[in-house]
Amino acid sequence: MAPTSPRLHVVLGDITLERTDAIVNAANETLLGGGGVDGAIHRAAGPELLAHCRTLGGCPTGQAKVTPGFSLAARWVIHTVGPIWQGGDRGEAELLASCYRSSLAAADSVGARRVAFPAISTGVYRYPLAAATDIAVSTVCTTPTSVTEVRFVCFDEATRAQYVARLG
Ligand code: APR
Repeated sequence: MAPTSPRLHVVLGDITLERTDAIVNAANETLLGGGGVDGAIHRAAGPELLAHCRTLGGCPTGQAKVTPGFSLAARWVIHTVGPIWQGGDRGEAELLASCYRSSLAAADSVGARRVAFPAISTGVYRYPLAAATDIAVSTVCTTPTSVTEVRFVCFDEATRAQYVARLG
């Protein structure tokens, strides 16, 4: 049977609390932690996550790598690296779409059926929120995957409202 699109949900909350198969981290290319959701995930996962990430050799923008969740409620963490917004003519849209495609492929590689995403690149990396949420939803809806449920976990109301508006 051809893979169907995942069921989509939009929630307001802290992605580190998600009791699910995999949560996605908006990381940087070093995979050695940072602020924002990256910092929150590392704090919640504990020091074993950083120790494991040190063995991975980083991750190029637009790609994704999977690690265990360690002390997190989620079994896996999918680390993906979003593009830094530079005005929109440096391939940012395709790189952001690639983050969602690569993250779904990473989920498939470990058999994760339920995945939670933060709003990748819309914080420190300054990607415009409306454009980023449009790419998130359209890419997840059009990427063949065995993932059955995607939760967009929004840390603030403005982000949640944007996803809700996009999902109609
Ligand atoms: N749960 C869910 N979403 C969160 C959480 C959380 N605990 N903390 C922050 N966010 C949201 C932000 O509000 C924003 O909507 O995640 C989204 C992405 O913002 P950032 O975390 O700043 O990520 P990004 O814009 O992709 O920048 C990545 O920031 O933290 C560094 O190491 C990271 O260099 C990398 C860069």
